[in-house]
Amino acid sequence: MVVILLGPPGVGKGTQGARLVDELGWVRIATGDLLRAARREGTDLGRKAQEYMDAGDLVPDDLIVALVKEHLAGLGADTGVLFDGFPRTVPQAVSLDAMLPELSRKVDGVLLFEAPADVLFKRISGRRSSPEGRVYNVYFDPPRQEGICDVTGSSLVHRADDEPETVERRLAVYEEQTAPLISYYDAAPTRVMRIEGDRPMAEVEEAVRQELARELDVTVGSR
Ligand code: AP5
Repeated sequence: MVVILLGPPGVGKGTQGARLVDELGWVRIATGDLLRAARREGTDLGRKAQEYMDAGDLVPDDLIVALVKEHLAGLGADTGVLFDGFPRTVPQAVSLDAMLPELSRKVDGVLLFEAPADVLFKRISGRRSSPEGRVYNVYFDPPRQEGICDVTGSSLVHRADDEPETVERRLAVYEEQTAPLISYYDAAPTRVMRIEGDRPMAEVEEAVRQELARELDVTVGSR
């Protein structure tokens, strides 16, 4: 099974994605997390990605597609995959559609999260992240101890691209380059499951469970 999480910055893809893979035992391929890890490790990819990410722009498609290919290649044939933040452009979606059949896979569904811009700004301003990719929120989902990850004990940080001017740019980039994927998948034989993201986390989680069960026969919590 291959499912894509699609939606603007701050809508809750990472939050819901982490919960889903914990319960389903799938692998989450979150390109933003992979790029941030590459930056921390100082790899060639990390250096190339840095200026795009800091400006709120997308990293070039060829770098992203190579990164995803590398991660997909190592997975067992039966492992479920949840893409978070990929694909982000129509060319990336076309590349994914070309690479999956080689692995006897296809895109089964897209979970499309939507919420108004003012909600996204508020969520992003309160977000604190661990280096391992766990996400908290000072308003909506604080850690037990301020500034410290509940699970790993790492210090939490405010992401460099979460400053308001960069968030504005990221939202504009989403509308220009990523939102066209909605029509792309609506026109494909892929289930597009629309999730109203402007609700408490538990309600969003329940809506995701219901859609996955109804549209893809995937039962979350069955592991
Ligand atoms: P990436 O890391 O993918 O960022 P993004 O898509 O902009 O998404 P976010 O991580 O900002 O938000 P999210 O939807 O995951 O929300 P979250 O769950 O954290 O990409 C970063 C950069 O990397 C890009 O700008 C680009 O440069 C590059 N990049 C990555 N992938 C690329 C690709 N494929 N191609 C090219 N470039 C790429 O939630 C946000 C906050 O809200 C959290 O604090 C959370 O606790 C809180 N929250 C979540 N849900 C709720 C709720 N229901 N109620 C209240 N609070 C909530």
